[in-house]
Amino acid sequence: MSAAPGRLAGVRLLATAATRGIGLAVARLALAEGARLALTGPGEASLTRAASDLEGLGRSPEVWAVLDVTDAASIDRAVARVRSRLGGIDALFVNVPGAPSGGWRDVGEEAWRRAFELYVLSVLRLVSTLRPDLERAGGRVVVVTSYAAVEPIEGLALSNVVRPAVHALVREMARDLGRCGVLVNALAPGRVETERVRQVEAAQARQRGVDEAAVRAETVASIPLGRYARPEEVAEAAVFLLSPANTYVTGQVLLVDGGLVRRG
Ligand SMILES: NC(=O)c1ccc[n+]([C@@H]2O[C@H](COP(=O)([O-])OP(=O)(O)OC[C@H]3O[C@@H](n4cnc5c(N)ncnc54)[C@H](OP(=O)(O)O)[C@@H]3O)[C@@H](O)[C@H]2O)c1
Repeated sequence: MSAAPGRLAGVRLLATAATRGIGLAVARLALAEGARLALTGPGEASLTRAASDLEGLGRSPEVWAVLDVTDAASIDRAVARVRSRLGGIDALFVNVPGAPSGGWRDVGEEAWRRAFELYVLSVLRLVSTLRPDLERAGGRVVVVTSYAAVEPIEGLALSNVVRPAVHALVREMARDLGRCGVLVNALAPGRVETERVRQVEAAQARQRGVDEAAVRAETVASIPLGRYARPEEVAEAAVFLLSPANTYVTGQVLLVDGGLVRRG
């Protein structure tokens, strides 16, 4: 197949949780940049919706597959399907849904276990399964995390506590896989205009007994750029880290947060 021009020309990219929000924005930009895209999401209905959204670009994903990031068997099935269609994977974009809101005393033990599976085991399973492909290609991995891992967010204990472990895992993987030319980074969004951020704001507003507009106004005021990000702005950073243009950035956490986080 002749590669379309672009920053990801001919790159075989598997993207998870890519049916909405940040994941869909990455899928859209990756296609526009010439990637051979394997689009995945947790269910047929949202995958079909996302695929028809992407068709508007004139380039479609080459393959789509149901992939539940919390289910090892589902990862295996999706990877087998993608390998059989694309022959392998050069780049992996790991996105996962956010864990439920709540303070450390509100969420039960089972939620802590599920958050570990959602945030940490998903990355471990996906990168382990695709390691042979990535090593062969000298590939790229980008894992979406959150600024919560650097500066805790009120009412998001699961993310505040478990996501720093993902940054540590990314550094471990980068050190190990660097020998094979595989570059692994985390991308930590600040506040991004998606359904997820509206859910988080609604939970914060309920907890504090104020309205959602007040929560948003306060958050916007704390962002030096004075606004939330568009998903497309996060996608730009992801595409750089996933592309062959990234030749020497690995083991890093890239904050795309409009200056929100004050400490590194
Ligand atoms: N938005 C922000 O301001 C912000 C800030 C910091 C960090 N983040 C993090 O960035 C990530 C993406 O956020 P977003 O705002 O784009 O989220 P979003 O709009 O809520 O989208 C979540 C995506 O995850 C998919 N999904 C749900 N359950 C899944 C599963 N079990 N396996 C695979 N995929 C699943 C959803 O698919 P369906 O369409 O089928 O539901 C959807 O594509 C999240 O981890 C979030 O915590 C977001």
